[in-house]
Amino acid sequence: MAAVRKAAPGAGSEMGPEYKRAGHVLLHAPSPSKLFGRVPIRHVVLMQMRFDGCLGFPGGFIDAKDGSLEEGLNRELAEELGPGASACYVTENDFISSWVMESPRKIVGHFYAKRLSLGDLEQLEGGAVHAKDHGLEVMGLVRVPLYTLRDGFGGLPAFLCNNFIGSAKEQLLEALGCLGLMPQNKLEEAVRASQK
Ligand code: GTP
Ligand code: MN
Ligand code: MN
Ligand code: MN
Ligand code: MN
Ligand code: MN
Repeated sequence: MAAVRKAAPGAGSEMGPEYKRAGHVLLHAPSPSKLFGRVPIRHVVLMQMRFDGCLGFPGGFIDAKDGSLEEGLNRELAEELGPGASACYVTENDFISSWVMESPRKIVGHFYAKRLSLGDLEQLEGGAVHAKDHGLEVMGLVRVPLYTLRDGFGGLPAFLCNNFIGSAKEQLLEALGCLGLMPQNKLEEAVRASQK
């Protein structure tokens, strides 16, 4: 993975024109479902399988013609998730953190998270196959398993062994903790189990 460091909120415009800006979002919804009738799903958390075989979040580069960071991010969501993305319009209030990559390209990225109702999220998932970039930049949406199975590895630990783009894995872990989608001790346990 390329070296990525955290940046101050709003970093980007003041970092100079050599930095391309990007925005990505974690979409989530509470879920009452139980896997096999016994393992609570707790929350649906969406990531995407990208064209390059890595997991990442929906979003992308902010273009010069985008009026603002959030406008660019919402344009990317429409391209990658389809028209249903209008149900999850991301605003400044959904901001979580920023990151900077120096190589191979200079990028400053902004990470957001937004909670949807389960109905809205499922509608978005259903419509995503009609998105402009479906099958091109985006190979499909995936839900992140937030549980660990009895073998101590299946579920989140195994999921964390996938390849992630940039700092997407760190962003996932940060958001799961700070949004309270998983208890901190369970999160740390899953990270340890994924490293064994
Ligand atoms: P193009 O239209 O092909 O340029 O793609 P895009 O605009 O959708 O851009 P993309 O989503 O690939 O994001 C731009 C850059 O940000 C990527 O080249 C990665 O380096 C990085 N990136 C992509 N997804 C994530 C993510 O979820 N987290 C982090 N930290 N970085 C990401
Ligand atoms: Mn079955
Ligand atoms: Mn895109
Ligand atoms: Mn993208
Ligand atoms: Mn793009
Ligand atoms: Mn594109």
